[in-house]
Amino acid sequence: MTFPKGFLWGGATAANQYEGGWNEGGRGPALTDVTTGGTVNTPRLVTWIDKDGNPHAEPENPLGIPEGAKYAVLDGYYYPNHKATDFYHHYKEDIALFAEMGYKTFRMSISWSRIYPTGEDETPNQEGIEFYRSVFEELRKYDIEPLVTIWHFDTPLAMIQKYGDWTCREYIDAYVKYAKTIFTEYKGLVKYWLTFNEINNTVNFLPDNASDEVFQKAYQHLHYQFVASAKAVQIGHEIDPENKIGCMICGICYYPFTCDPQDILFNRYKWEKGIFYCGDVQCKGKYPTFAKKLWAEHNVTLDITEQDLVDIANGCVDMYTFSYYMSQAVTTHESDDIVGGNMSFGVRNPYMEYSDWGWGVDATGLQYYLEMIYDRYEIPLIITENGLGAYDTVEEDGSIHDPFRIEYYRKHIQAMQKAIDNGIDLIGYTTWGCIDVVSAGTGEMRKRYGFIYVDMDDEGKGTMKRSRKDSFYWYKKVIASDGDNLDDSFEK
Ligand code: BG6
Repeated sequence: MTFPKGFLWGGATAANQYEGGWNEGGRGPALTDVTTGGTVNTPRLVTWIDKDGNPHAEPENPLGIPEGAKYAVLDGYYYPNHKATDFYHHYKEDIALFAEMGYKTFRMSISWSRIYPTGEDETPNQEGIEFYRSVFEELRKYDIEPLVTIWHFDTPLAMIQKYGDWTCREYIDAYVKYAKTIFTEYKGLVKYWLTFNEINNTVNFLPDNASDEVFQKAYQHLHYQFVASAKAVQIGHEIDPENKIGCMICGICYYPFTCDPQDILFNRYKWEKGIFYCGDVQCKGKYPTFAKKLWAEHNVTLDITEQDLVDIANGCVDMYTFSYYMSQAVTTHESDDIVGGNMSFGVRNPYMEYSDWGWGVDATGLQYYLEMIYDRYEIPLIITENGLGAYDTVEEDGSIHDPFRIEYYRKHIQAMQKAIDNGIDLIGYTTWGCIDVVSAGTGEMRKRYGFIYVDMDDEGKGTMKRSRKDSFYWYKKVIASDGDNLDDSFEK
């Protein structure tokens, strides 16, 4: 058997894309609640009203909205995250389906504004606390270990309105208070935690030609999140020494497009800026040497105190977790054949297949990433997201045949096996959107990742009925064999 005993097989979701109930149970709004749906070719829009009362719907601006403007839900727009796929009202049914597949773990996130509706409330929203308690108890009923992301892109809107997005120190205390509340409330129910989902996106997804002001804000935003994460790790360990707290990095595997030494160097810099910058701070407890070079490139000067550096040093994570969807070829040469997704773009790689959304499917890249990262940090790894966003067709008899999804997972699980055989300490695998959720990038429903289909379309129409796709039965078999049986067969 390749996979270690107790390997955490499971699936992953996030509150803003799955939970719904956006204005129920005392929850406050988050930025995703003023974000419309988009498509693969048209961006999602953030809606707001300017100081003269005029409505606006524009792609998210890293510098925020103009002074005096107010985020707002506007008539005539559809906001897919409001209802999402309604875990809020379906959690018992959904968890029973995860248990049927044999999950050992289930990754979900807590919506910060369900616990602290404005982010800065004196006391937490008890109804929100009790909601998640019921969810965790339900998971425990089936011996499913919750793996909880504390922040998955959903800062309370009231804080963004007041301060801008992670632009000031006030965020650190607010986040730490929120983390302390949930560590305390769910002690004994939750042991595995992730501080920030895909923390590296803030800088990694900025175009190289973004202004110095945009980079200044982005690096500062990250610094406050590093300190918040490190303090949360320390408090989480104090509250329960059993807690295992991880970072979560968007793991793209970069390759040089040519063997031009300039491309080799450029590729290394991509890894440093995009992947290692955050991983090094969170796993090694200090900024890497190359940080100064990155800041200088964009004339960035950061607000970093001596105490921040002490906190970062004392708040190293216990495990490195990451999402992995694709590799990308990068070059210093001109190219007009650009492909990509997840806000990140590279040159078309002739050795790659691309998904309908332009994501370069590459299982070998997963093996490369696992081995590279384990060598650098030597702490346990979890793949907390991996999957294929694809169109599904429901047949007349209600069945859903998704051999392309099975093929995708088979190759990625085989890549995991190779990396484990080569000595890396991989302890878990949670596939993304194990039940269909709203796409983060496009806001679509038609881009589906799930083993479980949810009857809901891009306009929010549908019965919300859950059905098992073929991949549901296949993944169930894979888990039952602990990753040993990956052939095409499955029993319905
Ligand atoms: C990751 C995010 O970037 O990719 C998820 O952590 C997201 O929230 C996932 O859903 C897939 O992206 P998309 O755009 O296909 O939903």
